[in-house]
This record gives sequence, C-alpha cells and structure tokens, in this order.
Amino acid sequence: MSLFRLDISILGTRSSTSALADLVEQEWRATAPDAPVVRRHLGEAPLPATAWAAAVATQFAPPDRHTPEQRDALVLAASLADEVIAADAMIFAAPLYNFGVSQHLKTWVDLVLTDPRMAPGGEKPLTGKPAVLLTARGGAYGPGTPRDGWDHAIGWMRRIFSDVWKLELAVMERELTLVGIDPAMDRFTELASRTRIAAEEQARAAGRNLALREGAFLS
Ligand SMILES: Cc1cc2nc3c(=O)[nH]c(=O)nc-3n(C[C@H](O)[C@H](O)[C@H](O)COP(=O)(O)O)c2cc1C
Repeated sequence: MSLFRLDISILGTRSSTSALADLVEQEWRATAPDAPVVRRHLGEAPLPATAWAAAVATQFAPPDRHTPEQRDALVLAASLADEVIAADAMIFAAPLYNFGVSQHLKTWVDLVLTDPRMAPGGEKPLTGKPAVLLTARGGAYGPGTPRDGWDHAIGWMRRIFSDVWKLELAVMERELTLVGIDPAMDRFTELASRTRIAAEEQARAAGRNLALREGAFLS
C-alpha cells in the first residue's frame, strides 16, 4: 500500500483542508503503519508557472530542437506523473480561492496532463485507484444561497480526477471556514461549528474507507 498526498493551501498551519487531510491520513495510516507516503505541498513549494508552456511547446518541435528549459519541463512533468502513478491511494486537499481552483493546483494538473500517460487520451494508469478530495470554502454556496454556483473549482476538479483520470473519487466539502475570521459572518457561528464537526467526522470515515477501497483495489 502507498499513499500520495497533495496539499495546496497557502494558509500554512491555519489550513482547513490540510487539517481535514491530516484526519484522513491518520485513519488510513492506522491500517497501514509502515506504508510509504509521498507528499507534495504546492502552497509551500509552488511549481514554476512557466513550466507548463515550455512542456506544451515540445509537442511542436522534434526532441533535438528542444531548449534546455523545455527539457527540464518535460522531466518535471514526468516526475509529477510518476508520483501519482506509483501511488495506490491519494488525498487531495484543495481549497476554493477567488471562486475557482488554486493557480498552484491548475499548474500541477496542466503539467501532469502534458505527460503522455496522463493526457486525456492516454493510458489512464490511475483507473480505479481510490482517492479523497477535500475542499473548503470560506462562504456557503449551496442551493438557495445567494452565491449558489459560484464555486467554479469543485466541478473542474471532479472532471479531472474522476472523469479524465478515472480515479474512484470520494469528495468532502467544508463550508463557512471564514466564520471566526470575518466578523460579518458571526451570525453563522453555530452553523459553522456544526459544519466543521460534521466535516471532521466525514474525513475520519473517508480515511477508513480509503484504506478499505485501496485494499479492494490491490486484491
Ligand atoms: C486569497 C483567498 C481567496 C479566497 N477566495 C474565496 C472565495 O472566492 N470564496 C470563498 O468562499 N472563500 C474564499 N476564500 C476562503 C477560503 O476558501 C477558506 O479560507 C478555505 O478554508 C481555504 O482552505 P485552506 O484553509 O485549506 O487554505 C479565500 C481565501 C483566500 C486566502
């Protein structure tokens, strides 16, 4: 058994998604004490924003015409792809920023997609592998709220992880994380507390389930 964990938050130790990912990982770890974990934290160590265009440019020139920057980009993309392909299970901790997906996650996905194995028409080496996607948003964008539909990250993430890469994806969403930070949201304190507790319980269950699904995938 092995785990790949991707954190994206720019909020360091205050990250809600990383805290939920910790709970998932703890429960998974209880069933696999010695299993390896490969971690990548894009909030702490972002990928170079220019690498994706350099990797894409290689598709329009023969290898002997590639620049050193383009070769580096291909090596980086292949190493990122290797990390997920080698894993038996995955955790993605991916917040909502500015109504959309974090630029760090977009850069990572774009680069991984340049690897022929991981491209939309590629081999689909992640097919059936279990994964947990944890997201968090400061507000609440569900049906009936004024901003219903303003989260433009979750749909895209589902498309990539579930539909393009064919992962067996479980999704956990935590809302109202800005309560306690933004005084304008104080009236939602009780709801936010219940939401947090529910999200933590779901994350623990997702961790146990991840281990079970990984066992089933490997058997
Ligand atoms: C730069 C920035 C932009 C944000 N944009 C939004 C937003 O558009 N909608 C929202 O509901 N919350 C927004 N938030 C709040 C985050 O979604 C919230 O803090 C969430 O818990 C972030 O996850 P993290 O704690 O793991 O980083 C934003 C936070 C930051 C720092």
